[in-house]
Amino acid sequence: MMRFATDVDASAGRGGYAEAREAGRLMHECRERINRLINGASPDHVVFTLNGTDSLNIAIKGLVIQGMRNHAITTWMAHNSVLRPLNALAERGHMEQTRLPCDPKTGLVDPDDIARAITPHTRLVAIVHGSNVSGTLMPLREIGAICRERGVPLLVDAAQTAGHVPIDVREMNIDLLAMPGHKGLMGPLGTGVLYIRPGLEEQMRTMREGGTGSLSESDVQPLNMPDKFEAGSQNAIGVAGLSAGVQWILEQGVEHLWEHEEELINHMLQRLDEDDMPGLRLVGPPDFQNRCGVFSIVIDGIEPNELSAILEDEFSVLTRAGFHCAPLAHRTLGTDRLGGTTRISFGAFNSEAEVDVLCDALREICGEYAATSAPS
Ligand SMILES: Cc1ncc(COP(=O)(O)O)c(C=O)c1O
Repeated sequence: MMRFATDVDASAGRGGYAEAREAGRLMHECRERINRLINGASPDHVVFTLNGTDSLNIAIKGLVIQGMRNHAITTWMAHNSVLRPLNALAERGHMEQTRLPCDPKTGLVDPDDIARAITPHTRLVAIVHGSNVSGTLMPLREIGAICRERGVPLLVDAAQTAGHVPIDVREMNIDLLAMPGHKGLMGPLGTGVLYIRPGLEEQMRTMREGGTGSLSESDVQPLNMPDKFEAGSQNAIGVAGLSAGVQWILEQGVEHLWEHEEELINHMLQRLDEDDMPGLRLVGPPDFQNRCGVFSIVIDGIEPNELSAILEDEFSVLTRAGFHCAPLAHRTLGTDRLGGTTRISFGAFNSEAEVDVLCDALREICGEYAATSAPS
């Protein structure tokens, strides 16, 4: 990013000089890396966006056909970056929606419910791959097979899984994959990606139009990819950082990174199971099945915000407390009336020793709280 900012700092496609060509090369290199990571069909179908929310908005709003009945399916485990665009479309009369309830213990959606909800007007199924509240990994393969068979585009929100969990868009029948750049892909804030299956872009409308550096003689948005969805100068400095992050993931191998995360998940589950932590409840999948490295916990009698503050102040463990922009997920899991949960998440740079620091801290907090709140 420093090299790009100081030595290049040009807009791709906006000049014939060396710096502009270098910017174009760098953007393409990043598309190639992301395409390889997700086994996409073409780097040109990797579209750069502002963040995960922008990717989801472009996908959801792009699929609405004007003058037709449009229907979308999502689940209660969805993030507000799916719920809110769908609600906004519904309010304006552009979309009907089915929001499927999920299992209150695991957060899993039943793929058969999705199959039953599909109508001739269904324009999209929008599913979160890994819940940012409970860490639930949705049964994507089954859902992908249903959507492909019924001819309905499948949009996957991979905000919590891209770069963490292996994703193969072709094998999993994913038509649209939305990813923030700044989480598992290790890019900077202000970067995001939307992968669009080749051919589907022809059915999608653009959310914004403008200069692309291509077909400048025309005053109409080009139809070629990725230009169709990339109006205006791009965040090339951010893409330089994103590209480096994705290159690191490719070098390590996402399967290898996932194995490491699986070890951390196992270790955490084992400690939660074996240690004496009175009043602590793990929300979401109770075992190793169907989960990624996102854990939500509640401790009886301690507010989620208070628990987060204790973990930070006394143990230097950084967490997030509250509703995590996913209100219906908390309603599903019964944590809405508790003010949400405290959320812990793992990444490639965490170690088992750090999981131990966390679990020791939780045991101490639970022990102290149980002692002070015990009837005298
Ligand atoms: C599941 C999920 N979807 C979407 C988003 C939105 O991503 P962004 O913050 O990049 O817009 C997030 C962010 O936390 C998320 O966790």
